[in-house]
Amino acid sequence: MTTYVSADGGSRHLLSLRDASRESLDALLIRAQAFAEGHYDSRALAGIAVCTLFFEPSTRTRLSFQLAAQQLGAHVLNFDASTSSTSKGETALDTLKNIEAMGVRGFVIRHREDGAVAALAAQARAGTCLVNAGDGRSAHPTQGLLDMLTLRQAKGTDFSRLRVAMIGDVKHSRVARSDLQALRALGMGEIRVCGPASLLPDDGTLDGCVATQDFDAALDGVDAVMMLRLQRERMEEGLVASLDDYHRDYGLTASRLKRAAADAVVMHPGPMNRGVEITDEVADGPQSLILTQVANGVATRMAVLEMLLKG
Ligand code: CP
Repeated sequence: MTTYVSADGGSRHLLSLRDASRESLDALLIRAQAFAEGHYDSRALAGIAVCTLFFEPSTRTRLSFQLAAQQLGAHVLNFDASTSSTSKGETALDTLKNIEAMGVRGFVIRHREDGAVAALAAQARAGTCLVNAGDGRSAHPTQGLLDMLTLRQAKGTDFSRLRVAMIGDVKHSRVARSDLQALRALGMGEIRVCGPASLLPDDGTLDGCVATQDFDAALDGVDAVMMLRLQRERMEEGLVASLDDYHRDYGLTASRLKRAAADAVVMHPGPMNRGVEITDEVADGPQSLILTQVANGVATRMAVLEMLLKG
């Protein structure tokens, strides 16, 4: 699927969903669904070591990758940047090389810089597999995959008749980029993207989408609402006037949700700013699939690790 294969064919990495084909996504999602239903070999990755190498904080991605690797029988190492020798100036590449030298084959990497995981992949040795667990604002491919699995479970595998609205800080969101790439590849009928003009990108990310600043119009009749985290640091950049203003204009409340289809589902990648982009009533309500997304993260990451590391 959307893996980078090294020139000698010895390494495979999942870096983004940018060039994902529908067939490759379908195959991976079918495998992830089997994992979600408990059909897997708990020795599939026996003898293989996987390291979660996070240079940025994480709760869901890091822990679900660790659980996924453990459930497939891999050894799991957790790298904590705050207590590592990076605090003495060691580079990410030297860190990778040293852990590789210990015999670790799988790396799940999050880094604040766009393209950082691809740069490490280009330097990794044959047989090493890297998964991008989020780089800058560029990509978060396994979040995109788990979101598609969640949508398939809720709405079926034919996305062509569906309408989805993505709301919030699209400009700075790696989740949004990976979700949009996957939604397009899987033939989503209509993709509406909504947020303040300051948070909507004009770099081609929204190609093929209907972009609007009118939240109520964006919600009208949609089958799924994908909320994004307001990255509070953007307020310091002056891109959002205040949390109150943002909530008034782009916060998903129960009354607003009534504009969507009666059986619409609500998603959010987490972490949530409760009371800002989403109210408690919606986040914890009957239409919310937010914890289902988290559960699907484990199954999806099992499928990704198996695809890259087995055989
Ligand atoms: N959705 C997501 O990436 O969450 P974490 O930052 O907790 O991993």
